[in-house]
Amino acid sequence: MSSTIKESKGEWGSKIGFILACVGSAVGLGNIWKFPYITYENGGGAFVLVYLVAIVVVGLPIIVAEMMIGRHGNQNVYTTFRDLSKNNKFWKLLGVLCLFSAFVILSYYSVVAGWTLDYFWQSLRGEFASMSIEQSGPRFGAFVGNGWKQIFYHSSFMGITGLIVWKGTKGIEKAVTILLPMLGFFVFLIACLSIYKYGSSETVNFLFSSDLSKLTPRSILEAVGHSFFTLSLGMGAMVIYGSYLKKGERLISAGIWIATLDTLIALMACFMMYPIIFGTKMALSSSSSMLFTTLSVHFNALPGGNIVGAIFYLLVAFAALTSTISLLEPVVSFAMDTFNISRNKSTLFSTVIIWLLGVASALSNGAVKFFTDLDVLTRLDYLASNWTLPVGGMLISIFCGFVLSADEKRSELSSFEARVIYPTWNFLIRYVSPILVFIVILNMIGVFSK
Ligand code: TRP
Repeated sequence: MSSTIKESKGEWGSKIGFILACVGSAVGLGNIWKFPYITYENGGGAFVLVYLVAIVVVGLPIIVAEMMIGRHGNQNVYTTFRDLSKNNKFWKLLGVLCLFSAFVILSYYSVVAGWTLDYFWQSLRGEFASMSIEQSGPRFGAFVGNGWKQIFYHSSFMGITGLIVWKGTKGIEKAVTILLPMLGFFVFLIACLSIYKYGSSETVNFLFSSDLSKLTPRSILEAVGHSFFTLSLGMGAMVIYGSYLKKGERLISAGIWIATLDTLIALMACFMMYPIIFGTKMALSSSSSMLFTTLSVHFNALPGGNIVGAIFYLLVAFAALTSTISLLEPVVSFAMDTFNISRNKSTLFSTVIIWLLGVASALSNGAVKFFTDLDVLTRLDYLASNWTLPVGGMLISIFCGFVLSADEKRSELSSFEARVIYPTWNFLIRYVSPILVFIVILNMIGVFSK
């Protein structure tokens, strides 16, 4: 191993630190901004059902696979696939696909994360204090249409992410242990308030009564794609996190914790916003704005609502930050090892290039007509979440299923896990997950329709 590889590595302080760091990566805008809005767009129930099934039969086995590959390979994503496959050309391409996904996702994710910074700041200043629910949509529209503000917040968020990846994540590991539970608690409280004021029956109906006839090939793909996105799978984020993990920690129980907490927060986020939408018959200008438009109703009515709103958006920004770190880290450690450059240079270089691509998304919500027509943000999200992540995840599961030997895999599990859970897990990872994802993709491209 070269010295640069050693230099790029860290290690988790404790098991709980590791799980929380993974939960930090998983819980982010995907849960609080994206899940509620795509579920709303896809008509609820049946979509949620496909999503939940995908989490259990596809997501969970693949989290374990990624962490296992990471800990076994113990390098950056690209060289891990290269070396574990003994320099096989095809598997080297998988590393490239992973890096491509990280690149694309981070570029637009940082733009949306920037919106939470503005909402934090404007809540604090009291801008929303007298705003009605009818005014909140146009306010959002004007904000995302303001190019300079978009670039300012996008740059701020990329900058903070770059700074942390450069300086190391030690402080973050500590902060996560306090701030993530706080976010969970806040989301829970706000959801209770929504249910208390507007009732929950419509929301429950919407989320859990599955009318399977509503499912289209596209909505199935989106549900499966989102299960990858929300668990940070399909691009090697968990491979990197796993490579920092000490031998002997239990991968399967860690995976179960991560998937459960992540799903709980996503569902609670729906309970936070849907009752307001249904209860006030709110007309959404675009469903992707709901995180920013619905909640103003609550925050205004509460004593000290400004402060509550500000704390809430700040916590969401923090959750987004722990996710952006996990998107930038694989790119940085790859560039360090590949071009033999220092962490500083690598971070600077990667941050600037990703920032540049992000500018197109930042300007695509009304600021510049050329980008607006292309709707760069939505398209990049669609491309990465529904194509490159599922394909990456499918290949990672085939890699873990067939390229790693049984002994290699067993050696990464505790003796209990190796004896009792390994056979089922290995079956899922070899056949069930990849074949299901493949069928979903074939279905999407119309192979099964006449
Ligand atoms: N899971 C995060 C969220 O839900 C986003 C994210 C972070 C991600 N790292 C990732 C998505 C890696 C895919 C791959 O907000």
